This record gives sequence, C-alpha cells and structure tokens, in this order.
Amino acid sequence: MHPLQCVLRVQRSLRWGPLPSVSWLLLRTCRAHSSLHSTTCSSPERQEDGVQKDFSSRLATGPTFQHFLRSASTPQEKLSSPEVEDPPPYLTVDELLGRQRKVYFETYGCQMNVNDTEIAWSILQKSGYLRTSNLQEADVILLVTCSIREKAEQTIWNRLHQLKALKTRRPRSRMPLRIGILGCMAERLKEEILNREKMVDLLAGPDAYRDLPRLLAVAESGQQAANVLLSLDETYADVMPVQMSPSATSAFVSIMRGCDNMCSYCIVPFTRGRERSRPVASILEEVRKLSEQVLQLIHERDNICKQIHLPAQSGSSRVLEAMRRGYSREAYVELVHHIRASIPGVSLSSDFIAGFCGETEEDHLQTVSLLREVQYNIGFLFAYSMRQKTRAYHRLKDDVPEEVKLRRLEELITVFREEASKANKTSVGCTQLVLVEGLSKRSANDLCGRNDGNLKVIFPDAEMEDVTNPGLRVRAQPGDYVLVKITSASSQTLRGRVLCRTTLKDFSANC
Ligand code: 5AD
Repeated sequence: MHPLQCVLRVQRSLRWGPLPSVSWLLLRTCRAHSSLHSTTCSSPERQEDGVQKDFSSRLATGPTFQHFLRSASTPQEKLSSPEVEDPPPYLTVDELLGRQRKVYFETYGCQMNVNDTEIAWSILQKSGYLRTSNLQEADVILLVTCSIREKAEQTIWNRLHQLKALKTRRPRSRMPLRIGILGCMAERLKEEILNREKMVDLLAGPDAYRDLPRLLAVAESGQQAANVLLSLDETYADVMPVQMSPSATSAFVSIMRGCDNMCSYCIVPFTRGRERSRPVASILEEVRKLSEQVLQLIHERDNICKQIHLPAQSGSSRVLEAMRRGYSREAYVELVHHIRASIPGVSLSSDFIAGFCGETEEDHLQTVSLLREVQYNIGFLFAYSMRQKTRAYHRLKDDVPEEVKLRRLEELITVFREEASKANKTSVGCTQLVLVEGLSKRSANDLCGRNDGNLKVIFPDAEMEDVTNPGLRVRAQPGDYVLVKITSASSQTLRGRVLCRTTLKDFSANC
C-alpha cells in the first residue's frame, strides 16, 4: 500500500508577462517525500550503505511543514544554472542535479506524448541534465510510452529488449546507463514493468514528471524508482514545454489533460486520469511566448517576408466591443508598437469594416485616426453587409444607411491611400531585394515581384548581370531574386529599375 498524503501546495502566479497576477491554492494528493520506501523497490544491500545512514543523520534537519509548501518555479527558457527544489531528506541537492548527464528521449503515440516529452525535458533541463539525440551517448534513456492499443505496448516491450543489450554492453568505465518508462504504459502496468524488466530503473506516470529529478537520483543510487500517482489537478501549468527539435515547424500547446469520457473501449481515462484544464492565464502566456518566438524569427531570417496582417476592423473600442473582437483600440496600438519594435521596417496590413451596426460618426473618425496613426502599407477595406446567422444579425441593428457606409468607406480608402503612399515613398531611392513572380498584369514589357514587405514591385523586363556568374547576361525568371532600385511609389505598388540577379544568400551576406 502506498501511503498517500495530502499536501497543500501554493502555486504562485507566473511572474513574467503582462497578464494579471492570479494566486491560487492547489489541494493536491501526492506522494510525500517520506514515502520513499514505498516508491522505490530498494535492494537490501543498498539500504545498509550511505543512503540509510545519511537518512538518520539528516532526520534532525527535516522534513518540516515547509517541505510540503512549495512554490511554483518561474518558467524560463534557458537557465544558466540548474534549479533544484528542496531535496527530500534522503537526498542531497547535488544528487538531485543532472550534473551534465545526457538524456535521450524516445516518444511513442499521440501529440499528448510529444507535449509530455517537452514537459519532462523542461523539468530535467532545469535540474542540470543535457539532452542528446545520439542513443550511444546517452546516460539516461527515457521512453515516453503509449498504451492505447496492444500493439503500441508490444512495440515498447520489443524496444526494451534492444535497450537491455545496450545496457549490458556498456563499458564499466562509463557511468551506468539508466532506463525509464514514462507516460501511459508506466501508469497502466506500474510495478509489473519493474518486475518483468529488471533493467528498467524508473517509472513515471503522466502526472509524475515533476518528480523525475528525484526518481533519477534514486535510480542513480542503484534502486528502482516509481511514481505512478495520478493527480486531480496537475496540468504543468507553470512548466514551459521545451521543444525537442529547434527546427520543428509546429508546436503543441496543451490546454487540458486527462479524459472523463469513459468510452467503453478506451484505456485513456485510466492512464491519464481525470479531465482537468490548464488555467487560461498559463495557456495565454505560453501562446504569447510562442508568438514572441515567431516575431523573433521573422526579424532574424532573411527568407521570411517581413509583413504581418493585423486585421483591426475598427479604430473605435466601442465598435470593437460590439464586434466582439476581444481587444480595445489601445491594446491593438500597443501590439503594433511591439511588433514594430521587434521587427524594424516591418510592413503592416489590415482589414477594416465601414458602417458596422451602431457605428457613429465619432466611431468612424476613430477609425480614420487609427489609419493615420498606424500608417499601413497594405489595406483591405469593406462596407459592412449584414450576414444571416451571425450574432449581429440576431442581436444588432444594421442601422447605418447604405450611402453613409459608402461615404465612410470612401473616406477610409482615401486616408489609407494617403498614408500608404507616404510610407511607400520612403523606399524611393533604395535598392530592394525582389522575388520575381512573373509578367506584370498591365504591361507585357514589365515584370512583377514582391519586396520583403510583400509589396508589389514593377520593373521593366531587361537583361541584367548575374552576381553568381559575372559576365553572364540574364533575364529574370519567376522565382529569381533580383535587386531593384526603386524609382517611384504609389499606395499600392513600387516601381523601379532592375540592377542584377542575385541570391538570398548573397544579398544577406552583403546587407
Ligand atoms: N461585412 C463586411 N466586411 C466583412 N468582413 C467579414 N465579414 C464582413 C461583413 N459581414 C471583412 C473583415 C474580414 C475580411 C475577411 O472581410 O474585414 O477581416
């Protein structure tokens, strides 16, 4: 029987970011530190050595009530030094640290497991572990497992047999290899895995990843360690997942864990526990961080066009509320400033609706002033047309007369054009990199392409030099990069003279 202890856990709100700070108490059922002997399958000879003696000597200094009151750690992306919470009385701080040991993760199954891997890695990284993608280099191998169908588990059993060979072949000169089973299979089979596969050193169920540093420290002392307790409220809300591959093209943001559906065929409610949602603030914070990374990438990479579409719809907070857009004019303008500071020279585009239900002349002027304030490069402006089935159709009155809508739309278009022309004219005289798209629609003698701000650039289809083949005269083809000297600008397009064919690499190197 595993002794259960009720631990009152104080989780502090996330310290970073502009979100309102919320404090909440989590009443959590979890295995207390003092339940060591039920969480580890200890070998008798180990109990007689330092671990046991040390335990008695350290009993005087802990654990106190403080051991059961922990604060959530502050999410950070990269840490210069490892972070360790108070160690349990039978471990030193040093034993809880990864001390540069290399962890190799293998992930099986669903997206939740991909996310679990990122959480587990985030926790271990903070404890001073390193990650390796080379199995031979690993000091710790962690399999993030799936139990959904029998075949999924069979795959893991087979893999364990292969890893057993790796463990036994390991030279004595290296530190012993530790193997851990994480996730659903650990939860479903619990100690059965430890009994069947003696070379498995640790088990951690889906709600026990915070315990990984401790479990690994116990495993390091030669004992098998397990924590397969499910929690009613663990969402890892304060753990910022660390993506496994820096070149990944997508990221998962987990918003809930567990499942209460109890479909008659499904093991998930038993392996992942009760359904619980992450606090909204922590989801928003994670999404905010991801958005920051996207802005950073747009800024850094020459192969990403520096243009962002930010549909405002209206410049009046009152109308935005009626539209249920979820932001105010002030919040929108703040975002614009943030984006401009993050990506200097970024080109902004937007959508606007003229004459939405209840829009007054004052609201309209607010939109005019937003167009002036932001000075968009590209704009899409529409007169409002009521659509059936929409909330506005059921709840609001399409009360702006048609001619007023059209007049306001004309005014918005005029202002947008004035501002865009001003913005675009700053490019005159500059040499810009242009990605060639093809012939211009208006003239067979001109080519058309896009600059880094996604603005149309028109230039005569002329022979030019190729920077990678000096002396060679070429004509631009769709997909080529060319340098264009901008000679004039309107609100919609830039015009210029082509200088040479180049490459993105060459252009970036000479920037
Ligand atoms: N009336 C006018 N414009 C609309 N848009 C969407 N619905 C309507 C409507 N009922 C505009 C918005 C949106 C763009 C795709 O179309 O500006 O961002």
